[in-house]
Amino acid sequence: MMFPLNRNRRLRSSAALRDLVRENSLSANDFIVPLFIVEGTQSKTEIPSMPNYFRFSIDLAVKEAKRLYGLGIRGVLLFVKVTDAEKDNTGAAALNPEGLMQRSIRAIKAAVPELVVCTDVALDPYSNYGHDGIVENKQIVNDVTVEILAKMAVSHAESGADIVAPSDMMDGRVLAIRKALENAGFVNTGIISYSAKYASAFYGPFRDALDSAPGFGDKKTYQMDVANRKEAIIETLRDIEEGADIVMVKPGMPYLDIVRDLANNTHVPIAVYQVSGEYAMLKAAAEKGWLDHDNVMMEQLMAFKRAGASLIVTYHAERTIQLLQ
Ligand code: PBG
Repeated sequence: MMFPLNRNRRLRSSAALRDLVRENSLSANDFIVPLFIVEGTQSKTEIPSMPNYFRFSIDLAVKEAKRLYGLGIRGVLLFVKVTDAEKDNTGAAALNPEGLMQRSIRAIKAAVPELVVCTDVALDPYSNYGHDGIVENKQIVNDVTVEILAKMAVSHAESGADIVAPSDMMDGRVLAIRKALENAGFVNTGIISYSAKYASAFYGPFRDALDSAPGFGDKKTYQMDVANRKEAIIETLRDIEEGADIVMVKPGMPYLDIVRDLANNTHVPIAVYQVSGEYAMLKAAAEKGWLDHDNVMMEQLMAFKRAGASLIVTYHAERTIQLLQ
């Protein structure tokens, strides 16, 4: 249709009309909230490069989970910061039934059984090398790592995790995890696979939060090359074949093209991870008075929905819910 038969501005002419024709929306149910957990009690410390975001001891993480559920949050994603003494090159602490992750899962599920508890499955928080897998001769070895990840996933399921989230980018880990869960009887434990996870510089503040920066080299032999797009589809279709229930793109904003590619090429729910560096960037710009924090935040989150994500892992969930109410 041609002007003046069609005037695109017509449907934008009032707030009510815009409400009626809006294609996407945000709600508390879209969000998964990452929780960083440390040893101790009554401990809540702000992460320096993530203003207003905290590490909690288990007791306070439980309170936080309850509060979040009350606000409408339906899922949390647990990460643990273990002590240096527990870090090695075998992943032993990751499999300990009394480990920090396992105790955290049990405590949160006991207090808020309805909340969907998702857990990070990767070795970096437990690695003395800060890598996501076992290191031999400065190489991150795939198949040995996968075996450990599968055991780790079962250990999380035994502790009560609803969904395990492998974030390591080893080949074949989704299938190994699915098989191990099935063999152990955890037929309803889900898998959110970080299927298109890039070797990004946006993870810096998270590595501060968990003290998990790689001790040598980088993660480019397992995380994806930021220059690649088609590879994301290959990775994701493979993960779905291997048994992933939900697939994920990470980071978020710079990778909206990938979110849309996956939305066009798959029929499973797509999650996107708006990572720590994205959070830090906005906080810093807002602190300087250079960006309007809340409006930019809402715009970014809406962009994820528009790109095709149905779940958003974000550090902004709570503020967003306040604004939505
Ligand atoms: C590690 C992991 C990382 C993040 C989630 N899981 C960091 C990394 O891969 O080095 C990053 C999350 C964020 O930056 O918010 N398995």
